[in-house]
Amino acid sequence: MSHASLNVEIGRIRDLAPGIREFSLRRSDGADFPVFSGGSHTVLSLPLGERVHRNPYSLLGDPSVRDTWRIAVRLQEASRGGSRWLHEDAREGMRLDISAPVNLFALNRTGRRHILVAGGIGITPILSQARELARLGADFEVHYAYRAPEFGVFADELETLAPGRIHHYVQSRREQIEFGSLLAGRPLGTHFYICGPAGMVAASLNAGKSLGWPDSHLHSEQFLAPSGGEPFDVKLALSGHRFSVPSDLSLLEAIEQQGVDAPYLCRGGACGQCELEVLGADGELIHHDLYLSADERASGTKIMPCVSRLKGGCLTLNL
Ligand code: FES
Repeated sequence: MSHASLNVEIGRIRDLAPGIREFSLRRSDGADFPVFSGGSHTVLSLPLGERVHRNPYSLLGDPSVRDTWRIAVRLQEASRGGSRWLHEDAREGMRLDISAPVNLFALNRTGRRHILVAGGIGITPILSQARELARLGADFEVHYAYRAPEFGVFADELETLAPGRIHHYVQSRREQIEFGSLLAGRPLGTHFYICGPAGMVAASLNAGKSLGWPDSHLHSEQFLAPSGGEPFDVKLALSGHRFSVPSDLSLLEAIEQQGVDAPYLCRGGACGQCELEVLGADGELIHHDLYLSADERASGTKIMPCVSRLKGGCLTLNL
């Protein structure tokens, strides 16, 4: 479980490209941040009117820098408020609660070579991974794909970090990563890491698997934003709470609004930490997560409330 535990002040805000902003964060009490490892994220609690939205953002700075954390936020077209608040309402000097760092996308320290791939804003965890590998003197390369030259917002920082090891793919120039050739013929002990859009992640993992890469050497991170949907009712069997989930809240957010403590880590359908047991569903479970297997979905007994919901009447949970 990872609940808000650090109060921070927003430091410098930089507009890096249209729709992409970087934020520096400092602890309000002036203390150092905890150490984090490359690929970690933090969960920001964002004040949206009377509601609090909790969104995960990767820590992109140097893990060894303890006085400042950095995140970059892309404005989501279909933002339910979180990224829009950060783009339109956040100001330098404001205070926020954030969680301690969590790493669901850690480097394999025994890897002999590391291939890092980023698509768009997926560069943020890759950047901190690259910093960690550079500090360790590890053998690595970075493949960075983005829409147009102005969206390669961390290209210069990467070049400084690892000169000659950064490969750029600019979509507006019709450049794209060919995963078959990128992953073919790699020596034993090579690890592959990717963060980017769903289609890109799936294509890379499929290419790796068809080339015989073991699952243990293919690492990906993909957080899904909770999508809205039709309202539905919920009954919590243990606590006795009954409430409705409105169309613009996730099931997890609605549970939290009741003051019920529910587990989570990624809040993006990837980690499995928020899994809840379904005791009854008067309708169809709409699974949006990346975690449950097809059999688990078919059983109708589990749900990831951070991204999934019910289409129908009432959902009864063992909570
Ligand atoms: S919190 Fe990670 S899957 Fe829901």
